[in-house]
Amino acid sequence: MRKVNIILVGYGNVGKAFLKLIQQKEEVCQEKYGLDLRVAAVVRRQKALIYCQPQKPGRVLEKLQDNVEGKNSANWEENVSLEEIIDTFQPGVLVECTPTDSKTGGPGLQYIRLALDRDWNVVTANKGPLVMDFQGLMDKARQKNLSLKISGATAAALPTIDVALNSLAGSEILKFEGIVNGTTNFILTKMGEGSNFSDALKEAQERGIAETDPSQDVDGWDTAYKVLLLTNAIFFTSKSLSDVKVQGITHINPALIQESQKEGKKLKLLGRMSRRGEDFSLEVVLEAINKTHPLFYVDGTEKGITFETDTMSTITVIGGKSDPTGTAAALLKDLINIYM
Ligand SMILES: NC(=O)c1ccc[n+]([C@@H]2O[C@H](COP(=O)([O-])OP(=O)(O)OC[C@H]3O[C@@H](n4cnc5c(N)ncnc54)[C@H](OP(=O)(O)O)[C@@H]3O)[C@@H](O)[C@H]2O)c1
Repeated sequence: MRKVNIILVGYGNVGKAFLKLIQQKEEVCQEKYGLDLRVAAVVRRQKALIYCQPQKPGRVLEKLQDNVEGKNSANWEENVSLEEIIDTFQPGVLVECTPTDSKTGGPGLQYIRLALDRDWNVVTANKGPLVMDFQGLMDKARQKNLSLKISGATAAALPTIDVALNSLAGSEILKFEGIVNGTTNFILTKMGEGSNFSDALKEAQERGIAETDPSQDVDGWDTAYKVLLLTNAIFFTSKSLSDVKVQGITHINPALIQESQKEGKKLKLLGRMSRRGEDFSLEVVLEAINKTHPLFYVDGTEKGITFETDTMSTITVIGGKSDPTGTAAALLKDLINIYM
């Protein structure tokens, strides 16, 4: 059995779901994959829970749940940084779940750099650091023979990057097109059923699908990040956000929806990469697609991606949970695959 130390950075929706999931999957990880996952620390904005002896997830969760009930048995240490604690443990996997900041990379950028510098593998749900410095981080990981895995940041439970890198290995990807943002797809589906934009957005927020500040989603940026990251990861390019043409759905004309419906089409926000040799075109576009399009039936919070290849024809993947548990599952998948 291989002991794997985990430092979890960010204990919000995704971090909590991850801890719960690794507790639920403890037996599977041990029996099927030979991995004994141990939590060394949980790091938040200004405090951290640190274990001298890394603990089983269930034990950590017990303490944290006690804490919620007011028993206060989890011993959070104030004002302690990752830098101060990371060297205390045998390197394992840093699970990065801090907020996305695509302008500076946010705290996640420093955390991922630090972890790789100190010989830790990284799995991340955070797009910010990857948008800022994808190649720099990947080079660092490669030089040290470490893994930096990014499924959680590239549509999470919907397999995208694994399909491109593993299942399509040896094929040339000529184009990919994806509905990779559950919030916008939910809004467009609702508008197709007769809602207006604000009501559909409000419903998405009430159902916990959209963020309180949904601008990254509805302005097309979240989709743009994913198109950018997939392109850089698949083709080893160093494209930046300014290379992506971005359209959102905020100024959508309801008449456009009715018109497309009359023609038997649906309006979808598509993230698209197409290329001719080394000439890449990256865009996020609102487009009416017809029944023959592989993503026509991807509705509501569902996501999907379709790849056109030279030797394997068109490959489409649809589905995947759009919530913190689905994201946590993508993080766990990446973690397991580091050791397989
Ligand atoms: N929610 C989803 O379904 C989903 C899906 C795919 C990807 N993601 C990505 O996953 C990441 C986490 O999302 P979330 O919904 O879990 O966010 P969240 O609920 O806002 O949680 C963020 C966590 O990060 C911590 N944090 C903030 N600044 C920090 C710092 N400087 N150092 C250490 N910890 C810090 C916060 O600490 P405190 O607890 O102390 O405030 C909090 O625990 C984001 O990058 C998001 O884009 C989320």
